[in-house]
Amino acid sequence: MKNRFYITTPIYYVNAEPHLGHAYSTVITDVQNRFHKLRGEETFFLTGTDEHGDKIVQAAEKQGIDPKTYADRISSLFRESWPLLDVEPDRFIRTTEPEHIATVQRILQDVYDRGDIVFREYEGLYCFGCERFYMERELEDGKCPDHGTVPVRLKEKNYFFLMSRYQDWLIDYIMKHPLFITPERYRNEVLSFLKDPLDDLCISRPVSRLTWGIPLPFDDKFVTYVWFDALINYLTGLGYPDDPNFSKFWPVTEHVIAKDILKPHGIYWPTMLKAIGLKPYRRLHVHGYWQIRDQKMSKSLGNVIRPRGLVESFGVDATRYCLMQEMVFGLDAGFSEKSFLLRINADLANDLGNLVSRTLAMVRKYVKGEVPAPQEPEGVEKELREAALRLVPVWEKTMESFAVHRAMQAVWEVINKANKVIDTSAPWVLAKDPAKAGRLRNVLYTLLESLRIFSILVAPVMPSTARKMQEAIGLDPQEDLNLDAARRWGVLTPGTKTSLIPSLFPRLETGKAKDKKEVKKKTVPEDAEKQISFEDFQQIDLRVAKITAAERVPKADRLIKLNVRCPEERTIVAGIAEHFSPEDLVGRQVVVVANLKPVKIRGVRSEGMLLVAKDDKGLHLTTVATPAESGAKVS
Ligand code: MSP
Repeated sequence: MKNRFYITTPIYYVNAEPHLGHAYSTVITDVQNRFHKLRGEETFFLTGTDEHGDKIVQAAEKQGIDPKTYADRISSLFRESWPLLDVEPDRFIRTTEPEHIATVQRILQDVYDRGDIVFREYEGLYCFGCERFYMERELEDGKCPDHGTVPVRLKEKNYFFLMSRYQDWLIDYIMKHPLFITPERYRNEVLSFLKDPLDDLCISRPVSRLTWGIPLPFDDKFVTYVWFDALINYLTGLGYPDDPNFSKFWPVTEHVIAKDILKPHGIYWPTMLKAIGLKPYRRLHVHGYWQIRDQKMSKSLGNVIRPRGLVESFGVDATRYCLMQEMVFGLDAGFSEKSFLLRINADLANDLGNLVSRTLAMVRKYVKGEVPAPQEPEGVEKELREAALRLVPVWEKTMESFAVHRAMQAVWEVINKANKVIDTSAPWVLAKDPAKAGRLRNVLYTLLESLRIFSILVAPVMPSTARKMQEAIGLDPQEDLNLDAARRWGVLTPGTKTSLIPSLFPRLETGKAKDKKEVKKKTVPEDAEKQISFEDFQQIDLRVAKITAAERVPKADRLIKLNVRCPEERTIVAGIAEHFSPEDLVGRQVVVVANLKPVKIRGVRSEGMLLVAKDDKGLHLTTVATPAESGAKVS
């Protein structure tokens, strides 16, 4: 039977658009998935979006749309980003899917029936950013360690998962399974959390406070708290409990996350699985943060790097390669365009790209473009053959342990050896002497076979480069791109036609200011470069509208309900209550989008959108300089 492998990324919140951090987790997961496939395993790769909770409601309100429309929009951005990076998941899951909702409800009911979920009153310090209660001792100077805000004291009755029942079991399990959480520093971090008594986990929110969640099957006055909902995606993704994929893949589950969500994955999730009656996942792989000039990336700091921009600046394979090389798995890494550029020129254009083009050009020139018949190699080419064969197990071991950068470094050592073989054996000299024709054939054959092995070993990180290399040396990637073939020498058949290919990685000019600007423009402010056609613009019906009445929407801090005339009367719900009071608004002429599909926001029908400008000082109404007819078209 084939070995199996199931790997997941975190499911990303839809309150922000995809950026470099998400791209890294998703690309390394894809690299691992491809690595296991290359070994001939049957694999399953899951990613998706996490769409419930206050954060999403708040983000939707800010944009004046309902949570579902908002979640649909951002979820599509994630789904569309991954093919740009050649990421190929088997399933893209959304927590708003009916299948997921049914799975969460089924599990909640089971755990409740077994007595591991209870109803109790709780008073505590709640951080809205984290959507969780904090213990006093977890705060830093009385503030949330992640958000730097002072948590609010809240008292309410809620449902709790009795996580503390499983604390001793979990400690014991982690102690007995040294590779359960890796790298080791994160295993130690989890063990150190577990030194203190575990609190039970609050898993509900009353619908009076949050409606955007999965209703508890045993009490419809409550919805599920996000983590209980989110973590279960890993089971829904396999069709728990009846789909054959579930029994096939659950025992070989590996999760990839960054350190921000270690506690939910290292503690909540295994104890939840225990309560559900399932075996824990096999491994949890935890990486560090991408930072920009020592700061974490964030939208408000304006230092967000978009995957699309990276790919446009550097190309897909080079981006994937740099992501894997510039971060040591487990540690934080700094992003800089300059180091991406330098790395692409050094490793990809110079080392690998040159090796491929020099080898193919010499094969064309000296042996009519055909794989030559070798004799027993000697000297430097023999050393190269041995180094290439020795490389494969080292590469496999480092890839398996997620040290992708070390695996790539090992490959590059041998690539450099191959480049040296060209310099020291000097095929152009051998070609002049008929007595050296045998040696010449040996050197070229050894170089081609080494390229073949390199093509396999770079394939998980740079899939299209691998295919191009294979095709250039006359192979069929469908058949020849597998790890078994890398363990063997002499796969290339003499007489096979090779072909010259365009340079794999053209050099990027680092010195020229123009190029740097170009890269910056593409990697940083992606929004600025999106363009639409005039026809697209014409589809938006902008109108002057007069505000005839305004009032706050009850229980919604940000929302104001406006009655506007444009020229017919309609209502618009706008997320502007933090910047304007209703009295400021009545009588003003504003610009609205009049043909937006109506939506219900907090139970109020909204039939359009108010346009405002935003800067550091806050929001500014868009208006007309001189009084205009209500309903006048803006174009
Ligand atoms: N929805 C939860 C996860 C639920 S999983 C059952 C969540 N979402 S998130 O959108 O905030 O994504 C967090 C994850 O995105 C991190 O764990 C990491 O995989 C990735 N990253 C987000 N920012 C990152 C960096 N700056 N650096 C590295 N990875 C980062 O938490």
